[in-house]
Amino acid sequence: MPATTATAPGKIILLGEHAVVYGRPAIAVPVTQVRARAVVKPAPGKPAGWVRLQAPAIELDADLEALRPEHPLGVAVRAVLDELDIDRPPACTIRVTSTIPIAAGLGSGAAISVALIRALADFLGRPLPDERVSALAFEVEKLHHGTPSGVDNTVITYAMPVYFVRGQPIERLQVNTPFTFVVADTGVPSPTATTVGDVRQGWQANPPAFEHLFDAIQSLVRAARACLERGNVEDLGPLMSENHRLLREMGVSSLELDHLVKAALAAGSLGAKLSGGGRGGNMIALAPAEEGQVVADALRTAGAHQVFLTTVGGPQKP
Ligand code: PMV
Repeated sequence: MPATTATAPGKIILLGEHAVVYGRPAIAVPVTQVRARAVVKPAPGKPAGWVRLQAPAIELDADLEALRPEHPLGVAVRAVLDELDIDRPPACTIRVTSTIPIAAGLGSGAAISVALIRALADFLGRPLPDERVSALAFEVEKLHHGTPSGVDNTVITYAMPVYFVRGQPIERLQVNTPFTFVVADTGVPSPTATTVGDVRQGWQANPPAFEHLFDAIQSLVRAARACLERGNVEDLGPLMSENHRLLREMGVSSLELDHLVKAALAAGSLGAKLSGGGRGGNMIALAPAEEGQVVADALRTAGAHQVFLTTVGGPQKP
């Protein structure tokens, strides 16, 4: 059985995080500058059913059997075996690596799941369609943060810009004009489970206030969709900044995020916001064409840990 490899990109949420958990739309796009990779190799001499999992970034090198039942990598492997109705797979080693920062709002957990699920299904000679890859990755996402919307596994599996509404068929977003975003990391790890849980508590304590915030975000997401489809870069920026203001009100921003948002705007960004779960992790800034580097430099000077540019849409993307 030959070795197999699969990779999956990271992602950013352009608008709509958190509200998307409550049935509102979100816009998410893949980022190919960072990737997760899974390699599955046969393990000659080992008995059928022997599966070794290796993930150097988390110092994991263990047999599948030895992992705690809720370990995300083990759950992903078992999900594939269940899906394919395989009890004892041929002996193999599964190695996962990733350049996507963990707990930073770039979808590292979902990307690792998607890469692993694809590589393992391919290794077993039964490649899975995108729809099933996404569905299995969603099961693993539930371990990362109890009530995921499904936006991460969807955008990462299909690797294209999406207008996502929980539980609805995937809608591809047509972006014909290139938009430049700068992605900057606060360097503060922030597990999505915590902020999603805090938003839930806030919503339970004061449903009208939170529903109002979610509705306001929904209007921004709809308007942003029109901007992306029409190539209207000028109007997209303010929608992002307003989304950030609403996320602050929701309690999921932080001093570091606010600081980077301000620095980006001062450097000429058209709009900026946190991206993902918040309280840390990454922020994104929309840059006017040709000005991406200026905004990126300003973010580095303001203390951002990792900064990169990504382009959404335009003729070079399928
Ligand atoms: O995984 P993150 O940190 O990129 O956040 C995902 C977006 C949330 O809306 C906060 C959660 C979800 O499940 O949609």
